[in-house]
Formats: sequence, structure tokens, C-alpha cells
Amino acid sequence: MTLPTFVKIVDVGPRDGLQNEKQPVPAAIKIELVQRLQQAGLKEIEVTSFVSPKWVPQMADNAQVMAGIQRQAGVRYSVLTPNLQGFEAALKSQPDEIVVFGAATEAFSQRNINCSVQESMDRFAPVVAAARAAGIMVRGAISCALGCPYEGDVAPAQVERVARLMKDIGVQHIGVADTIGVGTPLKAQRAIEAALKVYDLKDLSGHFHDTYGQALANTLVALQMGVWQFDTSIAGLGGCPYAKGATGNVASEDVVYMLHGMGIDTGIDLDLLIDAGQFISDFLQRPSLSRAGKALLTRRNA
Ligand code: HMG
Ligand code: MG
Repeated sequence: MTLPTFVKIVDVGPRDGLQNEKQPVPAAIKIELVQRLQQAGLKEIEVTSFVSPKWVPQMADNAQVMAGIQRQAGVRYSVLTPNLQGFEAALKSQPDEIVVFGAATEAFSQRNINCSVQESMDRFAPVVAAARAAGIMVRGAISCALGCPYEGDVAPAQVERVARLMKDIGVQHIGVADTIGVGTPLKAQRAIEAALKVYDLKDLSGHFHDTYGQALANTLVALQMGVWQFDTSIAGLGGCPYAKGATGNVASEDVVYMLHGMGIDTGIDLDLLIDAGQFISDFLQRPSLSRAGKALLTRRNA
């Protein structure tokens, strides 16, 4: 067992979280959330996505949000770009990193981005080439790596296949994503092992949704494999509009609490992170989904 001593957290709450909100969230609130996340010590924040506003109206304010954030030195701001049209729009906002998002299954690829897995690679290839030519780092997400809402079980070989396709088009970093939060630890381990046949440990992250309460366990098993980069979501916000019933990513506060309890550094101030979670939960008028966040707030207020 080789536990990392430092873990990099990418908070995807402003994007993965808020893309799934029924109620409108003004750009100013998103900007304030990004501000609070960077004040808490986050070094990478997934801010928004440049997708079709007809498909995901919640992200239609992408350029406004990117223009409004107060960039802090040493913090990276990433955005999702599904095609060249999205990339060209994103470029004007000067992201540090872009994310192309493919899927381990054909059915999810069709539902989420309206094309087959191979077609998605054909669309991503010029995006990746243009981003790299512009010096912008490229991450790739493999959705449904641990299970699919339409096809059910997903074999590790499917994860390896998509990882290889991404590698072939020049994607620099891969995220193994449990879109619907169905995975359990051995399943997570096997999917990561499959992706590690293609990508180095330093170029791989875990992205676990917590629908079935498995995300912290999956995070732990990934940590024990040496994985040291994770996408998490403030207050456990989120889900994917094309994966009905799927809830948010594992809460950032819960992961940071676990890591700090294990003596693993994150560079994040948990108190400030909890404040950020409270800020967005207050706006949404519902309790945070973070167990650690709620417990620590209760203790603070006692
Ligand atoms: P399409 O309809 O096949 O696209 O959608 P198209 O190229 O045929 O264009 C149709 C229309 O969309 C045109 O407009 C285009 O201009 C417009 P019209 O002429 O009809 O007015 N369009 C765009 N507009 C803005 N930005 C763009 C863009 N592209 C085309 N980039 C498309 C294909 C990919 C665009 C669509 O399916 C889409 O936007 N899907 C959104 C999917 C999405 O955002 N899902 C959630 C994020 S992924 C996720 O959450 C998973 C992740 O967290 C990991 C995990 O947990 O698994 C990352
Ligand atoms: Mg996700």
C-alpha cells in the first residue's frame, strides 16, 4: 500500500454541481463560489462548460462566469469543451485546461453528447490538437467507467479501450468517472487498473459520484493504489442531466476531512471550505450533502 502524502483536489462543483440545478443560479453566485473555493486553497476549479445551451441551459452563462472570476496566481481554471465550437468559444475565456468528455459505453455517449464513442473521438481530436497548440492542458473524462444507466455493467476492458482512444488523440490526463455512483471499491480498482495500462499514475484522477454512498470507499481504494488526484464537489452538489437519478460528486469537505485525518496534505483550509459549502447551500436553500461539513458546522455552532 503506497498512500500519497499529498492529494490534489479539483473542485468541480461550479460545473458538475451547478449544471444539474433546477433553479437558476446567477453568474454572480457562481463567481462568488469560485472565489470562496480559491480562498479555501483549491488550486484547480472546474468553472463551467461550453456545451449547447439547449442541452444544458444552466451553463449558458459560461463566458460571463469566466470573465467575472478574479484569477489568483497558481490556481488553474478548467472548462468542458465537447467539440470545436465549444473550444473556440472557450478559448476567448482563456481557460488553463479543457476537458473533453467521452464515455465507456455507446448508449451514454449517444445520450450525453449525441454521437458514438468513435465519433466523439473524431470530434475531440481537433479540439485536443488546437488546445495543445495553444498551450492549454487537456484532460479527458471517461464517463460510466464503473457502470452505465443504459447498459448496466461496464467491463474494465471498455475503460481501457476509451483510455487508449483518448491517448491516441493526445489527451494528457484521464479521469475515471463513476457518473452514476454505482461502483464499489473492487470495481473502482479494476477500472483504474485498466486505465493505468494506458496512462501513468501522475496523469490519472478519480471522479466519483456518491449516489449509492460508495464514493469515499472508492476514493480510499484509489488512494491505496497511489492515485493522488480527485475531482470532488463542494457540498456534494451535482449530477449529470443525462444520467437521471445520479446525485453529486463526493463532497469536497468529506474527502478533505478524510485525507487530513489520514495525515495527507491537500493545501486546503477545511474551515474555509465548509464556509464555501454553506454559502452555496444557503443560496440553494437546502442542507449541504457533506456529512463532515454538517458535523463540523454543528460543532462550530455549539
Ligand atoms: P448536437 O446537437 O449533436 O450538435 O449536440 P450539433 O453540432 O449538431 O449542433 C446543433 C446545435 O447546437 C447548433 O445550434 C449548434 O450551434 C449548437 P442551432 O443551429 O441548432 O441553433 N452547438 C453548440 N452551442 C454551444 N456550444 C457548443 C455547441 N455545439 C453545438 N459547444 C453537443 C452535441 C455535444 C453540443 C450536445 O450534445 C451537448 O451540448 N451536450 C451537453 C452534454 C453535457 O454537457 N453533459 C453534462 C456534462 S458531462 C458530465 O457531467 C460527466 C462528467 O462529469 C464525468 C462523469 O461524471 O461521468 C464530465
Ligand atoms: Mg461528473
